[in-house]
Amino acid sequence: MDLLNTEALKKYFGEVHAVDGVSLTLRDAELLSVVGPNGSGKTTLVNLISGALKPDSGKVYFEGRDITGIPPHKRVKMGIGRSFQIPAIYENLTTLDSLLVSIFSNTNLSHVFYKTKDKFEKAKEEAINLLETLNIPLKLVGELPHGQRKLLDVAMALSLKPKLILLDEPTAGISLDERDEVMQTIVGFIRNQKIAAIIVEHDMDIVAEYSDRVIVMHEGRVLKEGGKEILDDGEVRRILIGD
Ligand SMILES: Nc1ncnc2c1ncn2[C@@H]1O[C@H](COP(=O)(O)OP(=O)(O)O)[C@@H](O)[C@H]1O
Ligand SMILES: [Mg+2]
Repeated sequence: MDLLNTEALKKYFGEVHAVDGVSLTLRDAELLSVVGPNGSGKTTLVNLISGALKPDSGKVYFEGRDITGIPPHKRVKMGIGRSFQIPAIYENLTTLDSLLVSIFSNTNLSHVFYKTKDKFEKAKEEAINLLETLNIPLKLVGELPHGQRKLLDVAMALSLKPKLILLDEPTAGISLDERDEVMQTIVGFIRNQKIAAIIVEHDMDIVAEYSDRVIVMHEGRVLKEGGKEILDDGEVRRILIGD
């Protein structure tokens, strides 16, 4: 069984056909990159999969189950993680507390008072491990350099142990020399944990290095799909460069 399927997904904003009939599949532990010029519908597609947007038509299936009508927070509980784009409130929390907030906002603790302390200790241990694995220092979020902030953002999603993680431009705004390290850290972790990922990425070197499969979007549609070799296709290059 596929982990994720989308079936003829459509989302229009007035005249703009942001996503115009996208069908895709993703297997367990597969890393799929979504590339395409600005405005080609990549973020809209990610939002349809996370549930942040409802499609005009089409379906989303996760582990064979139709989740098209299911709200985002329930999709998170089912195992679809997404990064949060750290809100300002986290600036004054430590990296560790940020992970704990993320973990406990997704746990139902109210009925298990007697177990709460154990659960907290266990969550704390897991959060510390995650910080260590991703090389994120124990600091106030406000003191982190940009690259580590983006990593923390991803770590918050990973702390919920997703089966699939959606990453919309995880290296955006990160300097060229930091980018590779950040991607290596993220991809190393998700490969190790056998988490599937859909990654929207602008940097074609990074796409070529880390993807199992690539989808090229153009005007809301999938123009081409295949291995990383499709990045060398003439039409794909024209579209990616010529926007
Ligand atoms: N909330 C919105 N309201 C109106 N138009 C939108 C909205 N979100 C995206 N669009 C439009 O849909 C198209 C696809 O946008 P988007 O999915 O953000 O593309 P990408 O992530 O590939 O740059 C663009 O033309 C964009 O202007
Ligand atoms: Mg986008």
